[in-house]
Amino acid sequence: MGSGIAEVCARAGLDVIVREVDAAACERGRDRIVGSLDRGVRNGKISEADRDAAVSRLHVTSDFADLADRQLVVEAVIEDESLKTSVFRELDRHVVDPSAILASNTSSIPIMKLGIATQRPEQVIGIHFFNPVPVLRLVELVTSLLTSTETATAAESFAAGSLGKRVIRSQDRAGFVVNALLIPYLLSAIRMMESGFATADDIDTGMVEGCNHPMGPLRLTDLIGLDTTMAVADSLYAEFKEPLYASPPLLSRMVEAGLLGRKSGRGFYDYQSGTR
Ligand code: 3HC
Repeated sequence: MGSGIAEVCARAGLDVIVREVDAAACERGRDRIVGSLDRGVRNGKISEADRDAAVSRLHVTSDFADLADRQLVVEAVIEDESLKTSVFRELDRHVVDPSAILASNTSSIPIMKLGIATQRPEQVIGIHFFNPVPVLRLVELVTSLLTSTETATAAESFAAGSLGKRVIRSQDRAGFVVNALLIPYLLSAIRMMESGFATADDIDTGMVEGCNHPMGPLRLTDLIGLDTTMAVADSLYAEFKEPLYASPPLLSRMVEAGLLGRKSGRGFYDYQSGTR
């Protein structure tokens, strides 16, 4: 999702620095963003001049120190609380602008846990995008008990004003609004398939043709990533202790097997052969 966030920011005219773990990841990230912009040109959504201007506003680095002058940083590492808190500690050390906002694209981790990893929890906020970021208009804004009103106002102006996103607000509870509703639905579909109640194709076709969803729950889980889906479910379960948030065994086994969905080439569907 980080590449999608960087893309929409660069397209909105903002100067963007993407920080990745190493040079190879920087190259892959840049290629992904340029590939998506090229797709926009092919679809007639972006002019070649706008694509080139967006690319010129985009810089990649593997050095946290290059983020020193940023006014807003959006963290988008994997959904792992200890990794995210360590990234927030690094950001707190390196981002020197005293009014800079440190935001997280976390799907589910309470913002307070990230805020208290820094010396400036009043400037830490959740700015949660949806996948694919260039296509889906929603952003959830999540303020912790310590986030200041100024931070929330500036973050809303960034998401709604600069990026043109539709903003909803959520309290700082695991999963926020959308994933607290979406994840139990996805887990139910996995349980339905696991129990032999219906096939993956029939479950997905049921929701696409019967409820007009753009994709069925199993294909959507493949898009989100099975590891991310399980991590979000685990956060929700840790917070609420409700059985509806408990990961079904099939999801755990598939994650252990590396069947993570589209990004690994196989999940509930096989993206290499095009079949299930
Ligand atoms: N980047 C840029 N544009 C993209 C894109 C991408 N990654 N993927 C698709 N698009 C664009 C295409 O260019 C196309 O535009 P066009 O109609 O003008 O040509 C349009 O989106 C539709 O794409 P396709 O024709 O290729 O495919 P579909 O019509 O099947 O749409 C989809 C694909 C946009 C993914 C659609 O199926 C969809 O919206 N699915 C639901 C996605 C969803 O629910 N996401 C939320 C996940 S939850 C989440 O992200 C939260 C997290 O915390 C877990």
